[in-house]
Amino acid sequence: MKIRAAVLEDFGAPLGVQELELAEPKAGEVLVRLVACGVCHTDLYTASGADPSGYSPTVLGHEGAGIVERIGEGVRDLAAGDHVVTLFSPQCRECEHCRDHRTNLCMAIREQQNQGYLPDGTTRLSRDGEPIRHFMGTSTFADHTVMPEIALAKIDPDAPLDRACLFACGLSTGLGAAMNTAKVVGGSTCVVFGAGMVGLGAVAGCRLQGAERIVCVDLSSDRLELARGQGATETLVGGPEAVQQIVDMTDGLGADYTFEATGNVNVMRQAVESARMGWGLATMCGVAGKGETLDIIPRFLITGRRVAGSSFGGVKGRDQVPQFVDMYLAGDIDVDAFVSHKLTLDDVNRGFELMEAQDGIRSVIDFA
Ligand SMILES: NC(=O)c1ccc[n+]([C@@H]2O[C@H](COP(=O)([O-])OP(=O)(O)OC[C@H]3O[C@@H](n4cnc5c(N)ncnc54)[C@H](O)[C@@H]3O)[C@@H](O)[C@H]2O)c1
Ligand SMILES: [Zn+2]
Ligand SMILES: [Zn+2]
Repeated sequence: MKIRAAVLEDFGAPLGVQELELAEPKAGEVLVRLVACGVCHTDLYTASGADPSGYSPTVLGHEGAGIVERIGEGVRDLAAGDHVVTLFSPQCRECEHCRDHRTNLCMAIREQQNQGYLPDGTTRLSRDGEPIRHFMGTSTFADHTVMPEIALAKIDPDAPLDRACLFACGLSTGLGAAMNTAKVVGGSTCVVFGAGMVGLGAVAGCRLQGAERIVCVDLSSDRLELARGQGATETLVGGPEAVQQIVDMTDGLGADYTFEATGNVNVMRQAVESARMGWGLATMCGVAGKGETLDIIPRFLITGRRVAGSSFGGVKGRDQVPQFVDMYLAGDIDVDAFVSHKLTLDDVNRGFELMEAQDGIRSVIDFA
């Protein structure tokens, strides 16, 4: 079938919205009609050429939500009409990692996905006979996509898809960092560095876990205001003094849980140093630049602080994304506050501009 998609042709140049050919889903695959898709930093990171593992031509986009149109042979858990959220982090439920509660890093299709292929090593996307590679196994900057069944979370059809799409990436990452990775305990003190989609999700996750104090640190007062809306009890303007300020706010001890959601290694260090001795846990969500390292004075670890990393918030997507969507429908998570702009697919490059200008939290492409 013919589809319209935003193609990354040359790194650093705008995406070109054009017609491509999309083949039918093969065994274990599903054809999804996208209804909405968020524009995320990872898309821009790849489009800019900064990602050393990036390739082109490809169709970007990974924060999709849509409706199943057709299923391939052997697909058991999805049927036409189902509402789904796309998962760049799949869940096969069979590999060693999927069967272990300690991680969400499914190993089933990693290699092929990283190279831009579907699990059988081929692509469904093409242009005049030339294969076009998939991106993050999702390629959701398109009105339709073909994805493996194990990379789709079936959600309640009552959930508006222009909200549900945010659970495909940053929001679930933040929520999961607090709920799965750190497993924040009720009554505790938490500090979240960064109030973008990931940090705001972490604030909401800490609130849902029953944290007593949630301090959010960011450079932007507008974003700190949004953090209050998600449950931050205190806010702080970030900078070199942040660690001392947090220590002072916590009787000289530091916080039970800290979260880093900026991607800046100096802030990661602050997250470690503002966690309290004895049991403070610092969880890293941000993706640092190539070659950058996190500097930790070992004394901080010997005196009982721990450091954890969190990919997609430790969320096993097919199981937990539907639960998050249910929490949103029950009124426990305010997703509306994150949708700052609605765009058409033709305006996808505008979404990148808005992100670079830090205008709003998320732009959402509406395919309707
Ligand atoms: N671990 C994962 O699976 C995963 C998933 C999605 C995104 N990420 C990463 O998480 C990070 C955050 O993503 P996002 O979409 O929320 O980004 P964002 O750019 O919207 O938010 C980052 C925030 O950090 C703030 N900030 C910058 N410097 C700061 C400082 N010194 N002190 C305090 N705050 C500071 C900025 O003002 C901004 O509000 C990125 O590195 C992104 O790549 C990771
Ligand atoms: Zn993303
Ligand atoms: Zn798996």
